[in-house]
Amino acid sequence: MRVAVIGSGFIGRRHADAIRQSAYAELVATCDIDITRAVAGASARAYTDYATLLETEKPDVVTIATPDHLHVEPTLLALRAGCHVFCEKPLAMTLEEARLMAETAAECGRFLAVDYNRRFSFGYGKAHQLVSEGRIGEPTHAVFRVTDGIPPFVKGRGVYAFLFSMLTHHIDLMRWFCGEIVSVYALQSRPDDEGKFLDTVLSFEFASGAIGSVVGGWREGQTRTIETLEIGGTQGAVIIEDVQKRVRLHGLSPDSVEEFQSDYFWGVQTEFYHSLDAHVLAFLESVHKREAPLVSGRDGVRGLEIVAAAIESHRSGRRVTVS
Ligand SMILES: NC(=O)c1ccc[n+]([C@@H]2O[C@H](COP(=O)([O-])OP(=O)(O)OC[C@H]3O[C@@H](n4cnc5c(N)ncnc54)[C@H](O)[C@@H]3O)[C@@H](O)[C@H]2O)c1
Repeated sequence: MRVAVIGSGFIGRRHADAIRQSAYAELVATCDIDITRAVAGASARAYTDYATLLETEKPDVVTIATPDHLHVEPTLLALRAGCHVFCEKPLAMTLEEARLMAETAAECGRFLAVDYNRRFSFGYGKAHQLVSEGRIGEPTHAVFRVTDGIPPFVKGRGVYAFLFSMLTHHIDLMRWFCGEIVSVYALQSRPDDEGKFLDTVLSFEFASGAIGSVVGGWREGQTRTIETLEIGGTQGAVIIEDVQKRVRLHGLSPDSVEEFQSDYFWGVQTEFYHSLDAHVLAFLESVHKREAPLVSGRDGVRGLEIVAAAIESHRSGRRVTVS
C-alpha cells in the first residue's frame, strides 16, 4: 500500500518510522507546512500542501498528525479521495466534526481509526487479556490516576484541553475494559493563567452497572506520563502499575499475586511510544486484510461524546446521562 503522512512533527515522524517497518506498506510522501520537517528521506517525496499530495500521489492510506484542531479537513479530503485514514487523537475539537468524519468514512467505504495507542501498550494489553479471560470475574469498578507534563500544542486550545488532549485516551481505556459509559460526573480545578483546568476528576457509570473514576492532572515540567489503573472484579483485581513494564493480578486472597513483565513475546516496550508504533503497524495490517481496525472512528466519536457530557456536568454541577 502507498502511504503518506500529513503533519511531520514529533508524532508524524514516529508514524513515518513505523510505516517504514511495515511489511504491507511503502512510505511515498510526507507533508508539513514547514518544508524542513516534511523532508522524508530518499524514498518519499515532501509536500507543504496536503491537497496537492493527495492529488499527485494518490495514496491508499494516509496518517494524520497535525495539531489537534487541524485533523478534520485533511481527514475528510483524504477519505473523499479514497484513502483509509489513521488519525491522531482527538478526532476533532467538536462532536459535530467528529461525527462528520466517521459518517464520511462509512459513506466512502473506507476505514477510519483514531490513535488511542494505549490499547497497544504492554500494560493495558496484558490487563485486557487477563480481564477477557475472566481472571478477575466480572469487572465491578475501575480507578485511574494520571499525571503528565503540559504539551506545548495545547496553549490556546480552550479551558477543557486536558479532557480533549489527554483524558480521551483514558476514557477509551475505561470503555475497553468495562464496556459502554452511560453517565458522567465531572469536577475540574486549578485553572492556569489562560483559564485551562489542570486537574480533573471524572466519575463514570457503565451499562453493566460497574462504576469508575479518573483522577488526573497536568503539571509543568513532568517529562512523561505516570499512570496507574486498577480494575476490581468479583474474583480479584488487576493493577497496571507501569504501562510499559508491570501488571499485577490479585485473586481473592491478598497472598494470591501473579506478576507479569513486558517480555519478548509482547515485543519489549522500552519506551512509551512503542505502543504508537504498534498501533500504526496494526492499522496497516488490518487495512491490508480488509478487517476493521481495533480502534475505529466510532470510538473516537464516543470519546468526544463522553467529553461533551463531562463538560456539561462541570458547567451544571449535575451528573449527565450519555445516550
Ligand atoms: N497518541 C499519542 O500518544 C499522542 C502523543 C502526542 C501527541 N499526539 C497527537 O499528535 C498530533 C501531533 O502532535 P505533535 O506532538 O507531533 O505536534 P507537533 O507540533 O510536533 O507536530 C505537528 C506538525 O503539524 C504541522 N502542521 C500544522 N498545520 C499543518 C498543515 N495545514 N498541513 C501540514 N502540516 C501541518 C506543524 O508544522 C507540525 O510540524 C496532535 O494531535 C497530538 O494530540 C498523540
